[in-house]
Amino acid sequence: MQYDTQLNNHGLKYNPFKALVTPRPIGWISTLSKTGVLNLAPYSFFNAVSDRPPMVMFSSIGRKDTLINIEETGEFVCSIVSQELRDAMNMSSAAVNHDINEFKLAGVTPADSFYVKPPRVAEAPAALECRYWKTLPLPAPEGHPELAYWLVFGEVVGVYIDDNYINDGIFDVAAAQPLARLGYMDYSFVTAETMFTLNRPEVENNGTTATLIPGPWDGIFR
Ligand SMILES: Cc1cc2nc3c(=O)[nH]c(=O)nc-3n(C[C@H](O)[C@H](O)[C@H](O)COP(=O)(O)O)c2cc1C
Repeated sequence: MQYDTQLNNHGLKYNPFKALVTPRPIGWISTLSKTGVLNLAPYSFFNAVSDRPPMVMFSSIGRKDTLINIEETGEFVCSIVSQELRDAMNMSSAAVNHDINEFKLAGVTPADSFYVKPPRVAEAPAALECRYWKTLPLPAPEGHPELAYWLVFGEVVGVYIDDNYINDGIFDVAAAQPLARLGYMDYSFVTAETMFTLNRPEVENNGTTATLIPGPWDGIFR
């Protein structure tokens, strides 16, 4: 099948788009309003977009509190959601009033960040402390400016990792079990069983062919 995204004539039960681009990481974003109200919400239109300097982005449908706080204060923190924290993460997405502290609502603990004012989620295995760079407004659907997405970029100025998740000099993703967003209301998470290693292919001297190198990782970033 195929469909035209302007017409959305897929004939399926639900729009499949978000189920096609999976798994998506979840940025559990904490911010402070300019009057100091603490805010926490998950965003799965979220990813790392560079590592020199490390930068992340997320997009907000409409001008939600997270976006407003970041534009007003210039700082945010993305905590990494382990699968254990799934219910707390979900609870923090509830559209409660502006003055409600979503850390409390979700039952998680704020822990001081090192380089920015908003706290991280203490129970999370890692957190990215970010300084706001810019917002890029995305094109809105014809005649519906209120449905516009706003793409927010931030530079990661500090990284926190719970030492329990560092094993042999490596961040132990299998132990952290990061949660991922799939389509519809589905989620997944990484485990040791679902992880494997692929070395990058070695290009032959003549530059016309390449060879696959069997694992384990040979320690080379090609
Ligand atoms: C797993 C998950 C992912 C979400 N991803 C997004 C997203 O990428 N963009 C968005 O605008 N809302 C997203 N939401 C909804 C927001 O979390 C929700 O609207 C929240 O109330 C926004 O809070 P805020 O107004 O404090 O920023 C997501 C919700 C969940 C549960």
